[in-house]
Amino acid sequence: MLKKVRILIVGFGVIGRGVARSISEKREFINGKYGIDFELVGIGEREGSIVCEKGIDPMEACMLKSLNEHPHWKEGAKAIDIIKGVDADIVIEATPTNIDTGEPGMSHMMAAFETKKHVVTSNKGPLTVAYTRLKKAAEENDIKFMFEASVGGAMPVLNMVRGTLQANEILGIEGILNGTCNYILTRMMTEGLPYEHVLSEAQELGIAESDPTYDVEGIDTACKLVILANSIFDMDISYKDVSVTGITNITSEALKLAYDDGYVIKLVGEIQNNNKPAVAPHLVPKDHPLAVGGTLNIISIRTDLAGEITVTGKGAGAVETSSSILSDLISIANEIP
Ligand SMILES: NC(=O)c1ccc[n+]([C@@H]2O[C@H](COP(=O)([O-])OP(=O)(O)OC[C@H]3O[C@@H](n4cnc5c(N)ncnc54)[C@H](OP(=O)(O)O)[C@@H]3O)[C@@H](O)[C@H]2O)c1
Repeated sequence: MLKKVRILIVGFGVIGRGVARSISEKREFINGKYGIDFELVGIGEREGSIVCEKGIDPMEACMLKSLNEHPHWKEGAKAIDIIKGVDADIVIEATPTNIDTGEPGMSHMMAAFETKKHVVTSNKGPLTVAYTRLKKAAEENDIKFMFEASVGGAMPVLNMVRGTLQANEILGIEGILNGTCNYILTRMMTEGLPYEHVLSEAQELGIAESDPTYDVEGIDTACKLVILANSIFDMDISYKDVSVTGITNITSEALKLAYDDGYVIKLVGEIQNNNKPAVAPHLVPKDHPLAVGGTLNIISIRTDLAGEITVTGKGAGAVETSSSILSDLISIANEIP
């Protein structure tokens, strides 16, 4: 007997669509292995929503160029209203990251908690602005709140620390948490090309945003550190508590000099003991585990019992990030009676 778990997707962009696609493609696998059937009952977008209590075909929704072509589309129906009004178990929040206000994700998550819906998210904004408030609201409402996809895309970090490493004290964390910066630094070094050239190449390839500020100034990495600091180290910090230096002043000459001395330059985020969390370019020995190239992410977790545990993988991408979101969904679904 399959357990039906009703889900809403809020924000149907790269990640929302990727999750819908994976839910469709992995349906039989998840049915057979876990006895769980995820039923998509609503999708909330900026201009309107789709609600169908009998279930929406996730692949059909993915194939539409615009959701307003769907027969159940309601122009103007706000995502927050479907979160409050539709009978569902889990909300997947995948709207854009806003690190000034956390909105619209913040209101979506609070509405989900208040109406007793569990939340899975990839959205760093609310977690960066108001982690403690969100955690408290989730606990007060006896609701699960999971966000593995918000740090390192496909890389397992938060659930690994919470699960497999739970007997360990976490002493420090360092990592490369932004694929765009890693791509730019790697290309500048291997091709001897200037920053501006590689940045526009990355923009053409869709690896960098048209406004790359969040990535190249180290802000995105700092937000991920805030999430790690608050959720793993029980700190209560926000973005302003992180010391941040980006990669915009790094030249290909500096990268070459470093390389000739046996080092690569990497944008590293770290939280060490009582030090202020920091993001800055570091010299990393060429043969060090952190010396990964291209768009790869990597994280090293220093523990008291297990020593150093290092994980590497894809930090972004629709399908890759859906791996983390589906993992959170399955964990929650397993606990729903
Ligand atoms: N892309 C990745 O690989 C990746 C990886 C890890 C984490 N993330 C995070 O995951 C989240 C989603 O990323 P994404 O790449 O999917 O972004 P995206 O492609 O821009 O999609 C976001 C979607 O949310 C919609 N939206 C905006 N405001 C809304 C509102 N008030 N109510 C409902 N929907 C709204 C947007 O609609 P409009 O287009 O009409 O504005 C868009 O369809 C972000 O917070 C991002 O930082 C992304």
